[in-house]
Parts: sequence; structure tokens; C-alpha cells
Amino acid sequence: MDKQQAPKTARLILGDKQIDLPVMVGTENELAIDIRKLRSETGAITFDPGMVNTGSCESRITFLDGEKGILRYAGYPIEQLAEKSSFTEVAWLLLKGELPMADELASFEREISRHTMVHEDFRRFFSVFPKAGHPMAICAAAIGALSTFYGDVRFDSSEEERWKAAVRLLAKMPTIASYSYKHHLGQPFMYPRNELDYTANVLHMMFATPCEPFAVDPVIVKALDLLLILHADHEQNCSTSTVRTVASAQSNLFASVSAGISALWGPLHGGANQKVIEMLISIREGKTTAKKFMELAKSKDSGVRLMGFGHRVYKNYDPRARILKQACHDVLARTGANPLLEIAMELEGIALSDQYFVERKLYPNVDFYSGIIYQALGIPIDMFTVFFALGRLPGWIAQWMEFHDDPNAKILRPRQIYMGSNQRDYLPRQKRVSAAKKPALAATR
Ligand code: CMC
Repeated sequence: MDKQQAPKTARLILGDKQIDLPVMVGTENELAIDIRKLRSETGAITFDPGMVNTGSCESRITFLDGEKGILRYAGYPIEQLAEKSSFTEVAWLLLKGELPMADELASFEREISRHTMVHEDFRRFFSVFPKAGHPMAICAAAIGALSTFYGDVRFDSSEEERWKAAVRLLAKMPTIASYSYKHHLGQPFMYPRNELDYTANVLHMMFATPCEPFAVDPVIVKALDLLLILHADHEQNCSTSTVRTVASAQSNLFASVSAGISALWGPLHGGANQKVIEMLISIREGKTTAKKFMELAKSKDSGVRLMGFGHRVYKNYDPRARILKQACHDVLARTGANPLLEIAMELEGIALSDQYFVERKLYPNVDFYSGIIYQALGIPIDMFTVFFALGRLPGWIAQWMEFHDDPNAKILRPRQIYMGSNQRDYLPRQKRVSAAKKPALAATR
């Protein structure tokens, strides 16, 4: 249905009340019912756990059609960007809404490269963490701690200062990411080398040591750049919504992105890339077989899911997974075969012809094949999600900026439906019921 044919209002009847709610139409003809006046006019709220049907904002950054498997940044198809663009160019596109002119890109890259170092005192910050600490926890803490070094960065800082904060984040995240790894190894932190491009620089800081020369392999750089492009934004996913939520309290950019990193870490979100490889390794090591694992993934009682499969929005093949599956073959042709790819393809083959997965429209998502490439690039397993965060950074920043400038933006404060006890009087200790016997929420429905 296009904009002209779309109804202007949606009628809601609630008991003896009737209201007409305005209908909004997006540029890709998506329909939304504007319920902002619902509670004030009817006294009722909506109930939508997980915000499955709730549009939280208007956005011009990314378009996603989950039924058709379409993903575009500012109108540009992900397939074209993957083939022709670079990560820094995509970062500019997300932040500015247009592809950069040659001089704009050159000065953006120069600006980033001038901010890649972290304060010398900040280098010592990493040493307080246990060596086995997960790098996502270290990165979330480090990005939050940037506010202590740049205390002048506020939600209401000038446009120029907000841009500088964005550039600092883009510039320092590769340094912070690689230091979280170097700390784990006990190796010296490498200074950035600003003559290298963005992606080559992070590989240098991850893998070089002061003892011997290190040459960054351009094939590896290209593969990593592709991964970063594919992760750069994905509209209102869990971590991006977290960034916007924190921004909605007028917290600064560093605090908001730090919260986004924590949200991304979870295994249902970006942490799935680590879980996928762990699942494939357990099959390779013979702890289970692909078939047995798939049976477990289908069983409700097992608590096991086929990691890297399924998506809230995609009910079709995730276009990023399609690109990454091909990239796996290209990268492995260069770096050597990996039996995990065979196992992944076996699992995918079973899933795509199994009624359970077909009926629920569960397809590979971006995390299913990305880990195999990270592994081929020599990136350790618990750094996979850190690289997802590095890729997602321009998206988080662009969404934070968009929220900042949105005249409709309000503090995020959902309501609830209270299902607890009604008012009751304070009980003396001998008359109390232990909380251990409290029924689960589901049992009270
Ligand atoms: N394996 C087995 N069953 C699944 C899976 C899976 N990976 N994903 C969904 N289902 C089932 C689920 O049990 C439910 O079945 P039923 O209708 O019988 O109760 C049905 O499919 C719908 O699932 P849901 O949990 O209601 O869907 P959701 O939109 O709330 O969750 C998801 C989406 C991505 C959290 C989920 O598909 C999942 O847990 N996938 C595995 C983790 C994963 O790969 N996460 C990465 C997501 S993409 C990248 C990113 O955003 O970070």
C-alpha cells in the first residue's frame, strides 16, 4: 500500500469509547499507528513485551525489510556497499546521510587518525583487570571511562564538541579493543600507526609486537573491512535501542555507547558470534553430532538454540549472512580450509529443510558465518563480539546523534501492567511466608 492509498486514521473502540488514531507512513510505505494520545484519551496503555510491534522513533539511517531480506544504509543496498565501499566511507554515510566526496573522506580519515592514541594514564587503566576478564567487559568499562578523560563531553555540548566526541570514539575504539586483548596476553600495548588505514591499524595493534616487524596482509584487511561494513548499523536492535535509551536521559555519548557494548555482549545479540563457534567446535570435537544438536535445538526443554539462526525482524535469509557465507569461501581459499565451515553448512542444510525451522522462518543471521572468518583472520574467539562492537560503533553514534536532534525525542520510560499484591498490612516475622515460595509471574496470570 503506498502513501496515497494508506488510511489516514485507525479507529479503536474500547468499551463505550471510540478514538481515531493517526496513521503514519514511512518512505518505504511501512504503516504505523500513532498511539501517543491513547492513554490520555482512553486510560489504556498498550502491552508489547520485547517491543515486537512498537516503533520507538522515526529514523533516516537504515532500512530493513525482514520479509524480503533487504538491508540498506541511507538507501544504499548492503550488497553494493559490501562490494564497493570501505568502513570509514560507510561510517561517514551513516553519520552524514550521504556518501562522502573524496576530500571529505580524506579529511575524515585524517581527523580520525589524529585521535587514535589514548592518554598514557589510560593505558594503565587496563592493567587492573584480571587477565582472563572478558574483553567486552573491559571495552564497556573503558569506553565509559573516556568520560573521565573528556569531562567536557555532555549531551548538550555544542555540535562541534559532539562531533569531536564521535571522532574520538571512532579513533580510540580500535586502540581500546586491541589493548583489551594485549592485556590478556600480557604483551606490550602497541601505539597506533597513523599511516595505516583504519582497519589495518587495528590489526597492527592486535598482532604486532615491539620485537619484530609486522606486515599487515591486505587480504586480511579487506576481509575485516567487509565484516565491519556489514555490522555498521541495523536500525533499532537491542544495543542501538540501549544507546538511545541512555541518551534519552541526556547522558553523554561515551556513557550511551558503553551501555550499548554491554547490551551487545549478550548471547542473543552480538555475543551469538562467539557462541556459534563454540557450538561448531563442540561438534567438531565429537561432543555431539550436527543431527543430535539440531534435535536439542528444537526441544523446548533443552534450553539450547541453534546459535546464529533466527532473527526478530528477518523472516528470510539475512542478507549479511549471504554475503558472509560467500566471503568464508573466499577467505578460506586464501588462509586454508576450516572444518567448522563444513559443520556450519551441514547445520544450515538440516535447518533449511526441517519443518521446525521452516515453519518459524528461522534462517542464518549475521553471526552464523562471521566467526569462521574472524577465526581465519586469527582473531581469538572472545574478541569476536568486540569486533562486532567496533563495526557497530558508527551506527550507535549516528543513532545517538539522530536522537539528539529529534524534536519528538523524550526520555524513554515505558509503563507496565502491575500484577503484584494489592495493598496489605505489614506482617510480624512469625506470620510471614518465605519469598522462596513466591509463585512465578506466569503462575499469577
Ligand atoms: N533455535 C531454535 N529455535 C529458535 C531459534 C533458534 N536459534 N530462534 C528462535 N527459535 C524459536 C523459538 O523457540 C520460538 O519457538 P515457539 O514459537 O515454538 O515458541 C520461535 O522460534 C520464535 O522465537 P522467539 O524467541 O520468539 O523470537 P525472537 O524474535 O524473540 O528472538 C532471536 C530472536 C534472535 C533472539 C532468536 O531467534 C535467537 O535466540 N536466536 C539465536 C541467537 C542468535 O543467533 N542471536 C543473534 C541475532 S542476529 C545478530 C544480532 O542482532 O546480534
